[in-house]
Amino acid sequence: MSAEAVGDYDVVILGGGSGGYACALRSAQLGLKVALVEKGKLGGTCLHQGCIPTKALLHAAEVADTAREGAQFGVKTTFESIDMAGVHSYKDRVVSRLHKGLQGLVKAGGIDYVEGSGALDGPHTVVVGDRRLTGKNVVLATGSYAKSLPGLEIGGPIMTSDQALSIDHVPARVIVLGGGVIGVEFASVFRSFGAEVTIIEALPRLVPAEDEAVSKQLERAFRKRKIAFKTGARFAGATQSGDVVTVSLESGESIEADLLLVAVGRGPVTEGLGYEAAGITMDRGFVPTDERLRTNVPGVYAVGDIVPGLQLAHRGFGQGIFVAEEIAGLSPAVIEESGIPRVTYCDPEIASVGLTEAEARDAHGEVEIQEYNLGGNGRSQIVGTQGFVKLVRRKDGPVVGVHMIGARMGEQIGEAQLIVNWEAHPEDVAGLVHAHPTQNEALGEAHLALAGKPLHAHA
Ligand code: NAI
Repeated sequence: MSAEAVGDYDVVILGGGSGGYACALRSAQLGLKVALVEKGKLGGTCLHQGCIPTKALLHAAEVADTAREGAQFGVKTTFESIDMAGVHSYKDRVVSRLHKGLQGLVKAGGIDYVEGSGALDGPHTVVVGDRRLTGKNVVLATGSYAKSLPGLEIGGPIMTSDQALSIDHVPARVIVLGGGVIGVEFASVFRSFGAEVTIIEALPRLVPAEDEAVSKQLERAFRKRKIAFKTGARFAGATQSGDVVTVSLESGESIEADLLLVAVGRGPVTEGLGYEAAGITMDRGFVPTDERLRTNVPGVYAVGDIVPGLQLAHRGFGQGIFVAEEIAGLSPAVIEESGIPRVTYCDPEIASVGLTEAEARDAHGEVEIQEYNLGGNGRSQIVGTQGFVKLVRRKDGPVVGVHMIGARMGEQIGEAQLIVNWEAHPEDVAGLVHAHPTQNEALGEAHLALAGKPLHAHA
């Protein structure tokens, strides 16, 4: 069948996840003619297999814990059981509402939404079935997939987050391979749902990309929640017998479980899509770009998880918007990778932005640290959580890192990111009145303490 020409676009976007659809919507707002190609569902991993459904599971997990802990607040509640079908119907309702809303936005934007698997045929053409979409600009936004390890085949009780999102029962025993973001979030869900959980992490601490103090506090909290973990533990292999999986470690130890969740990182989806043939430089499957998200081929941009760096939906949104504005000639400001906020939604939550203490010492030499304990924060005591706000500043300079842990602390990242990205000094923040009694106050108090005038802080 001969390929049919469908006219020229200003922008053809390959991939309708966070990066791709944000680019499409912003391009359309700017009056550009846009085609958006998606082989699965509009919204991609974030909406259908990632951020949104997992946070729905985490919310259900919180409800289960609240039911268990009522007596602590003088409320007589009992936890009966988890109805997985009910959990899924709640989660799917949330996803489906957002999906419909997003489809409406794309339609209203006059974007040509092309369903099907696309690939490059040269730098300015995306082929989808018998259609050839040619664009003055092409944006690669094909996202990422859940990786496994060599010899570890996904199937039966061995799953990635893709399958774990729709299990129909709560397994009795779960092993989570990888103590990174996905690992600790799922460990948190499974534990709240009633499973015995063991995390296996190769590096010396859980959430190894976070500030060391945060890892320590998370480990303390997980011990209290009876989530077992083995750090510095190297995976040797896994065998399946019926519904049971046995994981062996290089130490010789072996552990049995009913589900093994593999959470060892996500790889870029770039294979077989014609990128290399179109002349695009690749690096271990990723698409390197310059700070303006240009690949080495003029007119071809890349956004989201295929670009080396943080694999976060909001980074994808930001990059998609950036590229649309760049194409429209608006010369947007470059996105600073270290200014992108990070939130991990396990219980307790982790939120951070900027440099860890170790990174700041490497980058700036002398730094000052302030750790404000949530023990002094009224609202945190009311909700019954422990944790802290840790600030890292350059000696006599701006705050370059904020690291927080505690229930609901993810919601505090907004002010933290303004502080770091606007290079505020502790004295600037200390002068602002923070509402009482909020958890946000802890951020204000940490800055008061760092500015040398602590209020509710114990030495
Ligand atoms: P990750 O890179 O955060 O964690 C993977 C962990 O597995 C690392 O700590 C690594 O040391 C460990 N590991 C690797 N090989 C191992 C082995 N052989 N034995 C034991 N441990 C091993 O990747 P993860 O958790 O799979 O997440 C993928 C991406 O998705 C991340 O970039 C993450 O930021 C993103 N994500 C973000 C979320 C959020 O913002 N809340 C939620 C979920 C995922």
